[in-house]
Amino acid sequence: MDEHKKHTTKDGSLSLYSLSYKEGFHDKNGALRESIDKYLLPAQLERFSNAEKIVVLDVCMGLGYNTGCILEELLNRNQKIEWHGLEIDQRPLNIALNEKIFRKLWSSKVLKFFNCLQKTGEWTEGFHKGTIHWGDARQKIYEIQDSLSFDLILLDPFSPQKCPELWSEEFISLLTKRLSFEGRLITYSTAASIRASFIRAGLKIYSIVPSIDAQNKWSAGTVAMKKGIERPLISTNCQFKDLTTKEVEHLATRSSIPYRDPTGQGNSKEIISTRELEQSKSQLINTSSWRKRWNTAQKQ
Ligand SMILES: C[S@@+](CC[C@H](N)C(=O)[O-])C[C@H]1O[C@@H](n2cnc3c(N)ncnc32)[C@H](O)[C@@H]1O
Repeated sequence: MDEHKKHTTKDGSLSLYSLSYKEGFHDKNGALRESIDKYLLPAQLERFSNAEKIVVLDVCMGLGYNTGCILEELLNRNQKIEWHGLEIDQRPLNIALNEKIFRKLWSSKVLKFFNCLQKTGEWTEGFHKGTIHWGDARQKIYEIQDSLSFDLILLDPFSPQKCPELWSEEFISLLTKRLSFEGRLITYSTAASIRASFIRAGLKIYSIVPSIDAQNKWSAGTVAMKKGIERPLISTNCQFKDLTTKEVEHLATRSSIPYRDPTGQGNSKEIISTRELEQSKSQLINTSSWRKRWNTAQKQ
């Protein structure tokens, strides 16, 4: 049986469902839409318009939507791009490139980028360059020269309960070390454990504002950075905002206990069971009490 099931999301873009992870690659509302709302817009690429070079890391490239959207914008500028991707499985990109509904989404330059990665793992176009490091992100990240810091890190693994190894305190700390001072680490995750790991790594965090058609959600993701945003800029910024009191309190519950992977080689079952044990012994408040309190407050 095929590991990946293809389907079309509500915006007409192709996505996959993984049978081994028992999880979809994207939001049902739209694979392309999700990349635009949760990665491209919070990146605010216009901030880099004066920079000579922009360095991007895509953690879990999958079919490539997050990178595709970013490159569509960047390739229209006269600015050097250095791109690195971390992905364990070549099949999602192969499946995507075989589908006309995927290919027709992209300009010829971005399609060429995808084709180069598929064929050789490398891309060059004028002064731009890119490399996909196939394999486990936890090890493959060391192939990228240590002195390189990233202006954008797009973090898009399966959910923490399915792929805890890429949400561990240690992996987040590693990504933080590689983030430039003005850079942004962006993820769809709103999990308290992930946000708390970002804070413990020394990052300032912001909540991605849900799109108009997802107003029932309290947050659409997290933007983390070393250098915080000045207050007047936050209020005029509609892509992300400070955490609400509800979100801040979430970080003080047992859900904030991190996924730990000290060897960088732990398997998901071990990582999950270590965390469950730590949660069962924790003095932190129960997440269900936090949820109940906020549900009651919202009904009043
Ligand atoms: C949610 S999907 C990514 C979706 C993708 N960003 C896109 O736009 O299509 C998660 C991806 O993580 C990859 N993955 C799972 N474990 C990994 C690991 N240890 N290292 C690198 N990639 C991994 C899967 O193969 C899958 O492609």
